Order: sequence, then C-alpha cells, then structure tokens
Amino acid sequence: MRAAVSEATTSDSLPTFAERFARFEAMDLTLSMARGQPCSEQFDLSNDLWAAFDESCDYQAENGLDCRNYPGGPYGLPEARKFFAKIVSATPEEVIVGDNASLQMMQNVITWALLRGVPVPGVSGGERPWAKEEAVKILCPVPGYDRHFTVCESLGIEMIPVPLTAEGPDMEVVARLVAADPQIKAIWCVPRYSNPTGIVYSDSVMDALASMGTAAPDFRIFADDAYAVHHLDDSPPPMKSILAACKEAGNPERVFVFGSTSKVTFAGAGVCFMAASKVNIDYFAKLFGTQSIGPNKVNQLRHVRFLSGVPGGLKGHMQRHADLIRPKFEVVENVLAAELGGTGLATWTKPRGGYFVSLDTKPGMASQVVALAKEVGLTLTGAGAAFPYRKDPADCNIRIAPTRPSLDEVRLAMEILAVCIKMVAEE
Ligand SMILES: Cc1ncc(COP(=O)(O)O)c(C=O)c1O
Repeated sequence: MRAAVSEATTSDSLPTFAERFARFEAMDLTLSMARGQPCSEQFDLSNDLWAAFDESCDYQAENGLDCRNYPGGPYGLPEARKFFAKIVSATPEEVIVGDNASLQMMQNVITWALLRGVPVPGVSGGERPWAKEEAVKILCPVPGYDRHFTVCESLGIEMIPVPLTAEGPDMEVVARLVAADPQIKAIWCVPRYSNPTGIVYSDSVMDALASMGTAAPDFRIFADDAYAVHHLDDSPPPMKSILAACKEAGNPERVFVFGSTSKVTFAGAGVCFMAASKVNIDYFAKLFGTQSIGPNKVNQLRHVRFLSGVPGGLKGHMQRHADLIRPKFEVVENVLAAELGGTGLATWTKPRGGYFVSLDTKPGMASQVVALAKEVGLTLTGAGAAFPYRKDPADCNIRIAPTRPSLDEVRLAMEILAVCIKMVAEE
C-alpha cells in the first residue's frame, strides 16, 4: 500500500460515498483481506522453534529414536501424539501425527475411503470402498471453508449444502438427509470458531451428529478443529468433544478430528494430526505407511519441545497470538458498526476465536461489492467462495480475514467495504 492510511481514515470532509470511493481510488492501494493468514508479528512468536536443537544437538525422542533417521513408523512421535491428544481430549493411541498440512491429511483420508473404504464395526468381509457407490456425496454446512469444497471437487464428490446455524449445522435437515440416502458418506464440520462464521457447535448439535441414524453404515464426520486453541478472549466458550459424543452414542468410529499448528507456529511449516478411534487410527496408519516411510519427526520433536517450553506453555503462546489479532477484530466490529449499524444493509458475526468474520449483505449484492472493492485495490475472498461450487444462492456472503494486514490497513479495508456496500445498495 503506497498512500498514507491515516489521511484517508481520519477525513470526514468528503460527504458522498462516490467521493469517498474516488478518494480510495486515488490512494492506489494494494490490500488483501482474502485469506486467513497470520501476520509477521505472530510468526515472530515462534522464531525460537529453530533454536530447539541449537545448543543440545539432541535429536532423540523420548523412546530413544534418533529423529534424523527413518525408523519410527507412520504414527508420529510418542511425545507428539501425547501433546496433540490433550488438545482434542483424546488418548495418544487415538492420534496420528503427520506433516505440515491437515488439509492434505483430510484429502488423504477421503481418497483412501474412496479406494479402500473406512472401518465398519461388525461388518464381515471388511470395508467397502466409497467409490463403489454410483455417487458419493458429502454434506457441506454453509457458509463453510472453501478448501473443503475444493477437496471434494477434485475427487468428484457431490456436495450437498446444508444451513449452518449459530449452534452448528441445521440438524433437522442433516438428520433427514443422512437417514434417507446411503450415498451420503460424510459431513464437513469446523466445530470451533467455524470458518467463516466463527460459531462454536453446541452440545446438542454434537450429540445429534454423534447419534443420528445414517443410511450409510460407513458414514463419517470430518471435524476440522483447525481453531482448537485459537481463542480471542480468556474465557473461551466450552465445546463438547465430538470424539466423546460419538463414544457415548455407541458410534466411536464415526468421527475423524483434524488439526494443525499452521496458525500456532508457522503456516505451512508446522505439524498436523488426526484423532479418531484406535480402530480408525490403526487402519489409516497402515495406509499412510504405504505412502511414506514416516512423517517429519525432526519437525514434530522441535514443535513439542518449543510449545512445551514457551512461557505459559501452549496456552500462553496462544494468548500472545490473541493479543496481536484481537485489536484487528475489534476494528472490524467498530468500523462496521459505525458505518453500517442500523442501516439494514448488512449483518456480520462477532467471533470469539478463529480467523474470520462473516458478513451478509442484503441478497444479490455480494459479488458487486467484492468487484467494486477490487477496483480500489482491496481484494476480498471471492463472493460465493464459502459455498460448494462457489454458488451462494442469495449472493450475500462476504468473508473477512483481518489477521494478516496491519491495524491501519484493516481499518481502511473495512471503510472501503462499507462504502462499497452503501454504493451498491444505492444503485
Ligand atoms: C478450517 C480450516 N481448516 C484447515 C485449514 C488449513 O490447515 P492446514 O494448514 O493444516 O492445512 C484452514 C486454513 O485457513 C482452515 O481455515
């Protein structure tokens, strides 16, 4: 961004939206609120990750393995399994720790499910590959995470949107659909600080997901807990463990939970994990073991040592993240409230964690707003991105990702967004 931000943000002298828009145009901006990326100051919190081996040159895991060498198998280091198990209330035996991207692990699991099936308790003869069905369908609560939808598209899986409420997926709709159609093999969920609305699933939604009757005996919940420890305040909302809910409901095999340190340490250079029943974990460990001799143990060891040793442990580390990004979420709220509050032109979420704010304009406006913002150099996530096949039926949803830009940039971006909404509404 080349022009001075403060000049534009403090000026009240231009009364019309068109004049404010012209002012933004003149600033020759390059501003992106498109993707949920940490800012550089957040990355700086983890620079000592690289120091984990500096002095000691000790690459030995707690079971005596030299992490520089191949042996170890597909499950990940014991200390890493313990570390991530705690985060999602699992046992270490219920966790497999992988490499740098939970998204890749999700795609991997789905691909294996298509080719080999998933464990089905009590079904003799083993698993039936999902791909043997005439069609494979996945329920997608909307708005949702665009990359989940890309995974499905890339594998030819049909996506069925279901509404996401403030408590989680609309369980009446979900229960009706899964009870009727054996080709519906799974549902995507981001149970904590959902991308993009920031909602947290209620206990009753967790219980309903865990206990509902499904026509497919090999139905699975893909619970992407990407924001498991990414709270914005000190009293995070409680969330029932979906693993526990499935066990209680007598469906222990039903859920896969995923997570990573992409937004804890370095994005794309961290460690990911999957938690599920031991039956599931052993099944997928065997398949993963055919793809690689084992995951990057050096990175796993470095992560466990670093995150266990930082002041306040993982909790303290995540509080320092929150201190850096909370003001940005506050600016989003304050500018939107000042510009759009009471106008009836938009509603937006006020998340208590995660990386996004979800804004809904009046129907039929989102694509035009995103296009107009682009004209003055503000890139927002593409309209419709939070919906399967990029089709937002109401053309109203816009995802705001405020973490990466500076505070001044977030303020300016929100002013631009608000002005664009007002201009489109006037038209
Ligand atoms: C819900 C959700 N899942 C997964 C990811 C990506 O995770 P990873 O870097 O572990 O692949 C993101 C990143 O924005 C996300 O929002």
